[in-house]
Amino acid sequence: MSKDIGLFEAIYSQRAVRYLKPDPVPEATLLRLIECAVKAPSGGNSQPWKFLIIRDEELKKRISRHYRESWERVYGAKASSPPPLASGVRRSATHLAENMHTAPALILACIEHNGGPSSMGRGASIYPAVQNILLAARGLGLGSALTTLHKGFENEIKTLLGIPDNVETAALLPIGYIAEGDGYGPTRRRPVGEITFWDTWGRHNGSQD
Ligand SMILES: Cc1cc2nc3c(=O)[nH]c(=O)nc-3n(C[C@H](O)[C@H](O)[C@H](O)COP(=O)(O)O)c2cc1C
Repeated sequence: MSKDIGLFEAIYSQRAVRYLKPDPVPEATLLRLIECAVKAPSGGNSQPWKFLIIRDEELKKRISRHYRESWERVYGAKASSPPPLASGVRRSATHLAENMHTAPALILACIEHNGGPSSMGRGASIYPAVQNILLAARGLGLGSALTTLHKGFENEIKTLLGIPDNVETAALLPIGYIAEGDGYGPTRRRPVGEITFWDTWGRHNGSQD
């Protein structure tokens, strides 16, 4: 069990951890992640989320096959114009694409809806919960990463897992203890001053003090 860490330490050091040990994660710990997830806000407190925890080896393999195929098509050998990725991200994301099934658990975060196209508003009621899972994993000494490449095979994955039509999958999170060599730490982000405007778009100077 990891030592308790503070909120800001968790926020500042949370990052994508893609090298995971296959050791099982206790059920109570997985449920703790979901408990933290549902503390998140949702539109009108509608709580339209459902979380599918997948531990079955065959199901993990089949989902991972889809995930890997999607990776190959978007970033890998089958991509016609792969988006640029920093070499470290490419290396670790390739590792995850090749080894997703070895994570002891996958959490598929889903959202119920009334039909209609996928939208930012819909996502706004599930991604805060996903971020809570990532932060809770950080706090519990587990690794994870927000992934969405499975969406390339949304229908196949929904059929495989018996997910109804009025449910959209939002994120696939591998969960496991962190493998040697990987870990949490400082993240590289654009400076706050560069991406913050005050009162008017483009105005960087907010100093009134
Ligand atoms: C919308 C979204 C989709 C993502 N999809 C994937 C994915 O499919 N596979 C993956 O390995 N990482 C995925 N990531 C993780 C990002 O690559 C990661 O957050 C980013 O590189 C920053 O890395 P860091 O948190 O380690 O600093 C996704 C992140 C977001 C927010």
